[in-house]
Amino acid sequence: MNWIKVLPENELPLNDRKVVKVEQRNILLVHHNNQIYALENSCPHMKLPLKKGKITDDGAIVCPFHRSAFDLATGNPTEWITFPPGINKLMGMVSKEKSVPVFPTRVEEGNIWVGLQ
Ligand code: FES
Repeated sequence: MNWIKVLPENELPLNDRKVVKVEQRNILLVHHNNQIYALENSCPHMKLPLKKGKITDDGAIVCPFHRSAFDLATGNPTEWITFPPGINKLMGMVSKEKSVPVFPTRVEEGNIWVGLQ
């Protein structure tokens, strides 16, 4: 595991989010429920950015475009293309559910670190 320092901890207060560029990847950091999550800022459906997605009570981020939702900790989909209504009947047949890559994080010496393979 290659740990990379990405941001001073105080630049990501609770309930905030930020995109950082790490080795050609856009990584979305989310500070939610006293945890810092790191996931690729790209919805696996159409590669559109997840940054503005709403966070659900059970800790998933909802893609603002067609409302697939992904668990912040695992990246696994909890919903797949639910908007506009009825679309998943159509799209579900041609677009298989996919996960968002997630990365481990840690805070050390006042900085946030992300682990890449
Ligand atoms: S781009 Fe995210 S659900 Fe379609």
